[in-house]
Formats: sequence, structure tokens, C-alpha cells
Amino acid sequence: MQKEKTRYICDICGHEEAKWAGKCPACLSWNSFSEISLPPGSKHNSSKKNSSAKKHAISIAEIASDKNTVILKDCGIEEINRVLGGGIVSGSVILIGGEPGIGKSTLMMQLAQKISNTSKVLYISGEESQPQIRLRSDRLDIKESGELIFIFTSDLYTVKDTINSLKPDTVIVDSIQTLFSPEAGSVPGTINQLKYCCQELIDIIKSADASLFLIAHVTKEGIIAGPKSIEHMVDTVLYFEHSENDMRILRAVKNRFGSIDELALFKMKSNGLQQITSPENSFLIHREKNNPPGICIATIHEGSRVFLVEIQALTVPAKGGLSRVFSDRIDSSRISRIAAVLEKQTGVRFSDQDIYINVAGGMKIKEVGVDLPAALALYSSRTGIPINQGTAAAGELSLTGEIRSVPFISKRLKSASSCGIKEFYSSKASLEDSSKENTDSKSPKDKHITAETINELIKILFK
Ligand code: TYD
Ligand code: MG
Repeated sequence: MQKEKTRYICDICGHEEAKWAGKCPACLSWNSFSEISLPPGSKHNSSKKNSSAKKHAISIAEIASDKNTVILKDCGIEEINRVLGGGIVSGSVILIGGEPGIGKSTLMMQLAQKISNTSKVLYISGEESQPQIRLRSDRLDIKESGELIFIFTSDLYTVKDTINSLKPDTVIVDSIQTLFSPEAGSVPGTINQLKYCCQELIDIIKSADASLFLIAHVTKEGIIAGPKSIEHMVDTVLYFEHSENDMRILRAVKNRFGSIDELALFKMKSNGLQQITSPENSFLIHREKNNPPGICIATIHEGSRVFLVEIQALTVPAKGGLSRVFSDRIDSSRISRIAAVLEKQTGVRFSDQDIYINVAGGMKIKEVGVDLPAALALYSSRTGIPINQGTAAAGELSLTGEIRSVPFISKRLKSASSCGIKEFYSSKASLEDSSKENTDSKSPKDKHITAETINELIKILFK
């Protein structure tokens, strides 16, 4: 007779060991292992495995298509539709993460109200009390609706029972970190609990063909909350990026049903989040006087839209002559590379400077087209020569100082022109690209100034 198998699982991170250990080798927690017994037969038998593998292996022609079962549902909020890739796919699981207070619950309540106009929505609040939810719904002017139902619990079994009996079309869990099941260890809020509750919910939701939104808290360090550990289980992951003032940026970092380039933009108002549907100039700062040195406007192409953002640079002599780069919105190694290219090509020293880079409005930028405006902002700060207002740039910088073209030049030019930009700097090659892309003769070609190298361009711009 086969014996039961014993395994030891870390309550904190879910790491599995065959023997008990005082310290978890994965998360370094002490005394976190619990013993679990696996039923006999869970051990794989290699001869059985071979025959069952043959039985289950199929060719691509035998794989069932999902073409007709993917139903996109308009969620009533255009910006959410955009970031999800057109709407909510029925039966999909969407994770919404962000720092506490950024507006996750507000957005989900607004979404719940919109969806409940046409289908049944269950909102599970494990975090906030009834008066708190009432206060928010009054603020958001959410009227009584029979199709929007709330439950206040953090017990996974109550949640499962409610889903089974109410059969909602959409379930919102606020937040996944508050859910608890005794099956996943005795400590609430651990990664084990998070993974277990998430998987249980996904199973029940997929069989009911409903959609599931999971709210998850992210701390700056991402340690306590740990929503990263469930990203692989869900279809779509949306994160609220840190942003300044009342601006909120929601970005898809994973999407099984759409692109991950799109952004959703909102402003937090006294009555909830308001969509920003034409955001070209939302990140620009308007000044009465001319720009101080260290500022250049970048045209960034994200998803299907162009945004104009202000890149701010500051260079100060480094203590001990050892240069450091402080840039959390643009990758700091990219900034170091740009500074090195500038030093080599223009002879202006950056290697003895501390460099600070900021993107006004809080957007994180990965696009290569930010190289050129970042270089111009850096040069402007280092030399103390300001760049005129109404100047924007886009281009990638090679290690040898050449400016390379970036896609969608004519779209960038048009958006820049609509935001009052008078001079647009980019690569020589982009002139040809823009005439290929351009079908509109009204595009502001005469304001398009180009150069082959950064040195050449700096000579034109800074005269
Ligand atoms: P909330 O949605 O509770 O954040 P999260 O769920 O991500 O923790 O939003 C909290 C903040 O938003 C809080 O500071 C109050 C503010 N707020 C508004 O400014 N306007 C509103 O209409 C609402 C509902 C909240
Ligand atoms: Mg909340």
C-alpha cells in the first residue's frame, strides 16, 4: 500500500520543501513551514505518465478555437475599454493594482455602476465597512440599482456561496489581499493565502462564465502586498502608475486579449474619476515667462495616442566627482548613456555631475523617442541655456551620436502643432518617414527641424 506523502510549505511565500526547515530559503522567513500531506498516488509513475501523455497530446488542428466565444462587452467607460483592448472579455480575470489611496475602489465602484445598467454585478468589500461604501456611493452619485449587489466579508467560502447562489455576470473583489481561507494556512494576508484564494475564485468564475476584477494593493517595495505572485494566473493586469496631483494613469502590463501599450487617463475630482479622452497636452506646464534651463518637451507615442510631456533635467557638481543618476520615470541607465554620448560628442562634461531627471505629470517613459528630448534637457541644464517654449523633440540617440528616426512622426507633428508647438526637432531620416506616413497636407512641415547628429542639432537649437 502506498504511503501518504508529506511536504512542507512556507506560509509566507508558498515555497515547498521535502524536509522541514527553520528558515525558508526563498523568502528567508523563520518558522514559516507548515506540514501538509499529499494523498497516495500523487507521485507520478513514469510508465503511466507516458501512456497518459500520448492520450492527451493533440495537434494544432484539434485545438478548439475560441473565436466565437470571445465576447467583448462595452464597460461604459471609454478609457477602460481602451486599456482592456476594446472592452471586457466575458469570462476574463482582470487584476487592478496600485498604491493605497490612488483610486482603485473609486474606479471599480464607477465601473460597477456602469456595468450594472445591463447586467448583474457583485461587489465584495473585504476592506471597507458599509458606511464607508455608502459614503463613496453618495459621492459618486450611485443610485439604487437592483443589479448592483454588495457583500461585506473576507471569508472565501461566503464569497463562493454568494457567487453560486446569485450567479452574477461580473464580480469585483476589493481587495484580494483581504480574502481568507483556513485551507491556505492560519496567517491572513500571506502570499499563500493570496495565491489560494485567487485560484479558487478564478476556478469558480471560469465555470460560471462571469468576469472577475481583483483589486490588489501594491506598496512601493511590492513586498507586503505581493500581487506580482498572482499576475500569471490572471488574463489582464492593470496598474495605476504613481502620478502627480489629481492625474491618474492606468497602464496594462499584461493583456491576453489586447495590446499592452495603451494607457487610460483620469483626473480625480470631488465626484470620482473623470476620463481624459484627448490627453495630448494634459501633462504640459504652462508658464507665463520663458522656460528655465533644463526643460524640453517630448512627444511620446503610447498605444494609439501621442502625449506631450515635459522632461526636466538638473545637473549639479557631484560630491567627490563621482557622478550619480537619479531618474525614476525614465530608466537611469538610459540617462547615463545619453549623458555619456553628449559628453563625447559635444565636449561638455557630465561625468563629474549628479544628474536628476523628472517627467512632469508622473508618466513612466520607456519609448526610445525620449532620448533626444532628454539629451536636450540635459544639455540645457548643464550649459544654463534655456530652450524656448513651443519647442518639442523626438528621436533615438545612438552611441555614436547619430539621431535615429522614431515611428509615427507625422502623428507626433500634428499633436505637437495642436498643442502650440512651433519648432519640432528630430532626425534627418524622419523627414522622409513623415512624408511617407503623411496623408494630410496641412501637417506643419515648415516647423520640422532635422539633423543627422546630436552635435549638429545642438548647434542649430542652442545657436
Ligand atoms: P480610493 O478609491 O479609496 O483608493 P484605493 O481604493 O486605491 O485605496 O480613493 C481614495 C482617494 O480618492 C481618497 O484620498 C479620496 C479621493 N477621492 C476623491 O478625491 N474623490 C472622490 O470622488 C472619491 C470617491 C475619492
Ligand atoms: Mg480601496
